[in-house]
Amino acid sequence: MKYPIDFELEFQRHNYPGKLIALEGIDGSGKTTQALELVESLKKEGIKTVYTKEPTDGEIGKMIRRILTGEKNFEPVSFQYLFAADRVEHQEEIIGFLKKGKIVVSDRYFWSSIPYGATDRGIDFKKSQDEANILLVCYSILSLYHQFIAPDITAYLEVSADAALKRLSAIRHNVDIYDKLEKLKSIARGYEWLIRKFPRELTVIDGSKSIDKVSEELFEKVVKITS
Ligand code: TMP
Repeated sequence: MKYPIDFELEFQRHNYPGKLIALEGIDGSGKTTQALELVESLKKEGIKTVYTKEPTDGEIGKMIRRILTGEKNFEPVSFQYLFAADRVEHQEEIIGFLKKGKIVVSDRYFWSSIPYGATDRGIDFKKSQDEANILLVCYSILSLYHQFIAPDITAYLEVSADAALKRLSAIRHNVDIYDKLEKLKSIARGYEWLIRKFPRELTVIDGSKSIDKVSEELFEKVVKITS
C-alpha cells in the first residue's frame, strides 16, 4: 500500500542579532582554511566572530571522529543520526553566540548530511539514477533538519574531486573514510544536486582559485550582511 505524501519544506529562519555563516564543500575543498581566514578577516574589521565546526569537539563529535577514521564500523543511517545529535548541541552553542550579536562561522552544517549521508546509502547522484529514489533518501535525511536554524549564508566551495584528492594527498594528516575518489565524486554531485534543488540557500564560490582569491570573494559576500 502506497500513501502519497505531499509536503513543503520550510527552513527555520532566525531573528537573532548575529549571523550564521556555514561553509560547505567536499573533503579537500579548503573549507577549514577559508573558515579560519574569514574569522580573522572579520575580526580585523572589529566584527565579533567565532569559529565552530561539525562534528563538534563534544562527546558525540569525538565519537563521530573515531568512526570517520575507520576505527569503528557504523551503519550509515545511524551515523547521520549521530551527526544530527551532535548538531542539537552545536545549535545551542550557536544560538548563544547569535543572541550576543556575534558572527558564527561554521565549518560544515546540516547541508553536509545530504551528499555524505545519501552517498553512504548507495545514492551516487548520477543522471542515470532514479530521481524519485534520490528524493526519497535525501528528503528523509533533510526532514530531520527543519528543527535547525538555516544559515544566513551557506558558501559552497566548489572544487573537483580530482583536485580535492590531490590536495588531500599533499597534506594527508588525518585520512577519513571519504578519501576515496569515487566517493568524493558522488559527494560533489550530491552538492550539485542540492544547489539545483535549493538555489537560494547555497552560494557557490569557485574554490579552485588561489587561497587569497577565494578568501576575498568569501569575505565580500559575508561582510555585506554584517552591517
Ligand atoms: P571535516 O573535518 O572535513 O569537516 O570532516 C567531517 C566529515 O564528516 C566529512 O567527511 C563529512 C562528514 N559529515 C557527514 O557525513 N555528515 C554531516 O552531517 C557532517 C556535518 C559531516
